Amino acid sequence: MNKNIVVIGAGTMGNGIAHTFAQSGFSVNLVDVKPDNLEKAIKTISANLDRIIAKGNLTEDEKAKTLANIITHTDLKNAVPNADLIVEAATENLDLKLKIFAQIDELAPENCILATNTSSISITQIAAATQRPEKVIGMHFMNPVPIMKLVEIIKGYSTSKETFDTIFEMSKSLGKVPVEVNDYPGFVANRILMPMINEAIETLYNGVAGVEEIDTVMKLGMAHPMGPLQLADFIGLDVCLAILNVMYEGFKNPKYAPTPLLVNMVMAGKKGVKSGEGFYDYSQSKKAEKVSAMFLKK
Ligand SMILES: NC(=O)c1ccc[n+]([C@@H]2O[C@H](COP(=O)([O-])OP(=O)(O)OC[C@H]3O[C@@H](n4cnc5c(N)ncnc54)[C@H](O)[C@@H]3O)[C@@H](O)[C@H]2O)c1
Repeated sequence: MNKNIVVIGAGTMGNGIAHTFAQSGFSVNLVDVKPDNLEKAIKTISANLDRIIAKGNLTEDEKAKTLANIITHTDLKNAVPNADLIVEAATENLDLKLKIFAQIDELAPENCILATNTSSISITQIAAATQRPEKVIGMHFMNPVPIMKLVEIIKGYSTSKETFDTIFEMSKSLGKVPVEVNDYPGFVANRILMPMINEAIETLYNGVAGVEEIDTVMKLGMAHPMGPLQLADFIGLDVCLAILNVMYEGFKNPKYAPTPLLVNMVMAGKKGVKSGEGFYDYSQSKKAEKVSAMFLKK
């Protein structure tokens, strides 16, 4: 495969995915409907590259090359025509993703593979919005992308072996560890993680213990590097809610029903780190940085 990548969505995940490809020498076209988010993404990538330099794992010259590998766009039409691979990392919303995939199917070259970073939406359903379902695949990176090794590679019902093999090998070339997964709600990572986060929020809602107490139990008792409530803040409470809803509807099983406190917090705009407040207060940027640093220390 050639090295022309398009990343759609420049939020929490999109900036990390763009960073990772660019640092591995791919040409990245980063697209977002909001120019401010593109600007913020480049600043975040630059700051994260500085952290890697500070650890002695990158030179200033490599940083400059990485940033030069990224071009930003607000219009898909300009970004997609020469793409070899498109990784969609826009907001977790089914209708939005179906619309984006129908659009990129029209605009992208015939051989281009269309991947989605969705946390929970059916790859098979997304693929059905295109005329090339055999070239549609899930490429589920973990947050923060430049640090976390895992990529769940999700095969939709029609994903071809050729597409799977290409993406599996490409993930290795990014320094990641790909894992093969079939297409069922939540895949593996979120099917196991989200019920735990939901239960932690329900435990808080029931008044069993406070935020820091719940997180401390899981950190010191289960050796988790971050408590579930802080992790939920880091993932984004809106993203957690969207994933739980997909699993709740997909399995028709009440064990995945989002707890009312999570629903309320999202409705109130308390989405975690990205909105400045969730279970913890991140209004002073130092606190938000502290959360990121917990991952980056590893
Ligand atoms: N946050 C996580 O920890 C995490 C982990 C793994 C996967 N994911 C998945 O990654 C995807 C993105 O999540 P996120 O947390 O980065 O969300 P986010 O809200 O931080 O960013 C989403 C971005 O998509 C942009 N966008 C919306 N519509 C668009 C369009 N039509 N074209 C281009 N850009 C558009 C938004 O402006 C925003 O900048 C979701 O599918 C999510 O489920 C998230």
